[in-house]
Amino acid sequence: MDLYREKILDHYRNPRQYGKVAGATHRAVRANPVCGDEVTLTVRVRRGTIVDVRFSGRGCAISTATNSLLLELLVGKTVAAVRQLQPAAVLKLLGVPIGPARHHCALLGFEALREALATKP
Ligand code: FES
Repeated sequence: MDLYREKILDHYRNPRQYGKVAGATHRAVRANPVCGDEVTLTVRVRRGTIVDVRFSGRGCAISTATNSLLLELLVGKTVAAVRQLQPAAVLKLLGVPIGPARHHCALLGFEALREALATKP
């Protein structure tokens, strides 16, 4: 359990895939209605494959760590495969159960990702 907490803290303090993608083809902004935190997701897709994806904005440890854990897995994946991702699989990345009240936090970036990939470049 402590190992998972350390992993979450590491991704919170040193988030992977943080920033904005140069030449992004897709973009979305989502806010957490509970706290007002906001995440911007930018993606560059070439021939149906994600070549870069990054997040920026403000979020708590759970939100930031989940974005970091999720986005580092997505480079090289097809858009079609990423569209199949379910919220439960994203929550599992944290490695520890979180209460329903924190689901908004953990899924903020994922919702932005879904919205971004639903738009045409
Ligand atoms: Fe704002 Fe978690 S408290 S995203």
